[in-house]
Amino acid sequence: MRITVLGSAAGGGFPQWNCNCRNCAGLRAGTLNAKARTQSSIFVRPDAGTDNIDGGDGIDGVLFNASPDILEQIRSHPALQPARAVRDSAIAGVVLMDGQIDHATGLFMLRERSTPLPLWCTDPVEEDLSQGNPVLRVLGHYCGVQRHVIALDGTAFTVPGVADLSFRALPLSSKAAPYSPHREQPVPGDNIGMLMTDTRSSRSVFYAPGLGDITPPVFDAMCSADCVLVDGTFWTDDEMPRLGLSGKTARAIGHLPQSGAGGMIEWLAKLPVRTRRLLIHINNTNPILDENSPERAVLTRAGIEVCEDGMELQV
Ligand code: MLT
Ligand code: MN
Ligand code: ZN
Repeated sequence: MRITVLGSAAGGGFPQWNCNCRNCAGLRAGTLNAKARTQSSIFVRPDAGTDNIDGGDGIDGVLFNASPDILEQIRSHPALQPARAVRDSAIAGVVLMDGQIDHATGLFMLRERSTPLPLWCTDPVEEDLSQGNPVLRVLGHYCGVQRHVIALDGTAFTVPGVADLSFRALPLSSKAAPYSPHREQPVPGDNIGMLMTDTRSSRSVFYAPGLGDITPPVFDAMCSADCVLVDGTFWTDDEMPRLGLSGKTARAIGHLPQSGAGGMIEWLAKLPVRTRRLLIHINNTNPILDENSPERAVLTRAGIEVCEDGMELQV
């Protein structure tokens, strides 16, 4: 399977419009060795056939999360616009990992379709996007959505038009959006991780851009995957409070920090040696964005990669 990282930043992107933290200011000034990043989304396609070996092969795929930056992301990646008809897209369907702004509001930008947008999400996410932030109701006035339920019992699903890929969701502990009635009383399905398997090659990827706690089922899924793309939001639990940017810790908003006891680096070290490990959904304050930082060097020594926009993963 092939994964294109469309957006590797957390909500706000990098640099964030109103932020002058060391990273955002340094990137604008050109004094930081870092790359700008758009908000959290990946595009997943099956492998190209032997007669279709280049990138622009007209093979449809699945968009995971519709970020507010989706239009820019589509423009930057010709594979998403194969131009087979006067109106066309390689996006066969959209799958949401949660109902947060950075993952869902890009749905508005896909409104010009002539048929309802095929959309997979859990029941709690459908509820939040119909009530607290009624994106789906608003879209009903445009193309509408053809909604498919993501089951939480481990039942696999496929996306019509996307050959060879099978998806299995895992409920996980992270955080619903602030406009959700269960922001502070989590329910299963507020956030999910996804195990994606290429049924031809049997290769698999575990994707969880928001991951607050690594429970035994989540760790099992990570161990079974050839590649993990997991929450890279914050380096330290107190990253935002320490910078005076928020009173909330990383864990309080559903993101396991990388450093420290029980942090993501420790968990990733327990995976089988063959597993490719990448961090995604990186907040603009995270020191790992500075490619010359000691924090980035720690990751490199641990064999952990940091996703950047435009990265192509062949799994
Ligand atoms: C989060 O995952 O915590 C976010 O990126 C929140 C947001 O989009 O504002
Ligand atoms: Mn987010
Ligand atoms: Zn910043």
